[in-house]
Formats: sequence, structure tokens, C-alpha cells
Amino acid sequence: MENLPINQMNNREVLLEGRNVKKYFPIKEGLLSRNQKFVKAVDDVSLKIYKGETFSLVGESGSGKSTLGRVLLRLYDLTSGSISFDGVDITSIKPKKMRNIRKEMQVIYQDPFSSLNPRMKISDIIGEPLEINKIAEGVEKHNRIVELMELVGLDPTRMNHYPHEFSGGQRQRIGIARAIALNPKFILADEAVSALDVSVQAQVVNLLKDLQQKLGLTYLFIAHGLNIVRHISDRVGVMYLGNLVEVGEVEELYKRPAHPYTSALISTNPTPNPRSTKEKVILKGEIPSPSNPPSGCRFHTRCPFATDRCKNETPELVALSNSRSVACHYPLV
Ligand SMILES: Nc1ncnc2c1ncn2[C@@H]1O[C@H](COP(=O)(O)OP(=O)(O)OP(=O)(O)O)[C@@H](O)[C@H]1O
Ligand code: SF4
Ligand SMILES: [Mg+2]
Repeated sequence: MENLPINQMNNREVLLEGRNVKKYFPIKEGLLSRNQKFVKAVDDVSLKIYKGETFSLVGESGSGKSTLGRVLLRLYDLTSGSISFDGVDITSIKPKKMRNIRKEMQVIYQDPFSSLNPRMKISDIIGEPLEINKIAEGVEKHNRIVELMELVGLDPTRMNHYPHEFSGGQRQRIGIARAIALNPKFILADEAVSALDVSVQAQVVNLLKDLQQKLGLTYLFIAHGLNIVRHISDRVGVMYLGNLVEVGEVEELYKRPAHPYTSALISTNPTPNPRSTKEKVILKGEIPSPSNPPSGCRFHTRCPFATDRCKNETPELVALSNSRSVACHYPLV
């Protein structure tokens, strides 16, 4: 779906929805410790991803993006909250049923080969999901691998080569071919282009956009900064210390950020918007520990606009307009 305004999106079908999702990791402590402490990696996040859109999550390292992505795909159990995918509640779904749904939700990682045998040929890497799920074998499998390689812009005559014989961008294309092999509805791309050179990044982003149109895919795209996701996203969610602090259409959010943290993320972009008239928020210091987050607004220790109210009162994520939500007592717009 091409940058549809959110008020029109409200009529669209939701593909993936998380409600009040929490994911806490227990911290290992000494046997004598009485109070179990937790890393609150995702702390009460609700969001909807619509069919055919690209929703991106951005935020500094440790803000909980990957954990949220993994929980939404049920690769992790939830601490609390609920998740539905294509109208099915998958919060506590049985593993056998989840295996079927899993085919429709695929993941592309930054380094798609870290978990694969480097001695596997490309044809085996791309064909493995077809084999495991008994989708195709023999000539049919071979033809499907050729089709998938062509779809992602790889030369099928190289199907008997090994991963190390391909460039970083080509390897990412192999990862994409594998991810679309089972005709999924949804793809989580976690830092899928972050390690690539800028020009290669653009090519892979264009490929993903192209495949979205052709195959009707919905994406959850994860990156640190807004710059990478700007050209692929319809909407963006900004995460800080386990919370969603702003959600909106990408261009609107980029041009007129409402949350001081979003503004700070844009200021740290290599090419900030020169027409932005707002005072720039510069991020100082490290992100605090998610095991002991600051009181009130979690951003108050680094926010130049913080008041006593911010230290004591937690701002809820509320609608600013029908295309934007923000969790700040004093939004910038
Ligand atoms: N399996 C785990 N066990 C314990 N703590 C974890 C686990 N996975 C993540 N965390 C912690 O949860 C917090 C959020 O991590 P997460 O990887 O989700 O952040 P992120 O936003 O994806 O960061 P990055 O941009 O570096 O990938 C971090 O403090 C991290 O150390
Ligand atoms: S609530 Fe206060 S501390 Fe938090 S972002 Fe808004 S102004 Fe800054
Ligand atoms: Mg991550």
C-alpha cells in the first residue's frame, strides 16, 4: 500500500495487533537474592499493523525493538498482553497450530547466514523451507528456486554456489528469497539493510518495495534511525526504553516530530531536514537501564524540556490527530 493516510487506514484490515504487550527478562542473581529483578525490554506496548503497509520501529540500541518484533511473531513468549495475527489470537496458541501460522510470518535478519551452514549451496538455502514444509521436491522445487532467485534479482545459474561467493547485498537477496519461499503474508526485517553500504541499502530497500507490490506483503521494518526507514515506511513507531513514544506517518513524523526523542533521533541523522524550523533536540548521555527505568516519563533524564510533572507522571500514548499518537506532556506540535 502506497503511503495511504492513516484516516483512510482506519478502514483497512489489521494484519497484526499487539495489545498491552510486555516482555520482561529475569536477571540472574545470587541464590540468596529475594527480589527477582527484570529487564523490562518491552513494557506495555499496543500497536496495529495494517495489511499491505510497512510499519517501522526505530530507536536507540536497547530500546526493545527486536524483542517487540520477536514477541509479535511469537518467537518469544509474552510476559503479559495479547497478540492476534490475521484475525487469530496467537497469544497462547498450541505449537502445532503456530507452526502453520509461522509459514505466513517470516524474518530477515542483518546477517542471514550466521545460523546457516556455510557449506550449504544457495539452492539448498533457498529450497530448505520448501523441503521442510513438504511444499515441493525434484523438478518442481528446482523451478521454484529459479523463480525465487529471479524474483530477488539473482542469476539462477549461480544456484550451486556457496554464500561466501556472494557480496553482502547479494547475500541479503538470498535471505529474502528464502523468506518469501513459502508465500508469507508478513515479513519482519530486523536491521536487514543496516550493515550494507548506502547504495546497496537503497537497492535492497527498492527490492523489498517491489516485492511488496508484487506479492502483497506486509512489513515490520526495524532500524536505529529514521533515515534508513524513510523511503520504505508508511508509518513509524519510535521506541524508547521499552515504550512506544510516538507513532505516525513517516513524512509527517520526519518533518514535524511531536516527541522530543523523535526530534533527537532526526537531529542525529546524517542528513537532517534543512527546512525544519523546530529547535533541535540533541541526545545527551546513555540510554538508562531497562531494569530500573526512570520514574514518570522514562525520557525525562535526557529531555531538555523536562519538568517536575515529567518526573512524576507517566505520559500515555494518546492521539494528537487521526494520523499521530504521542506519549509526552508537552508535544512539540
Ligand atoms: N534474551 C534476552 N535475555 C535477557 N535480556 C535481553 C534478551 N534480549 C534482549 N534483552 C535486553 O532487552 C533490552 C532490549 O533489547 P533489544 O535487543 O530488544 O533492543 P533493540 O532495540 O533491538 O537494540 P539493538 O538496536 O541493539 O538491536 C536490552 O536491555 C537487552 O539487553
Ligand atoms: S513528558 Fe516531559 S520529559 Fe517526557 S518527553 Fe515530554 S517534555 Fe520530555
Ligand atoms: Mg535489535
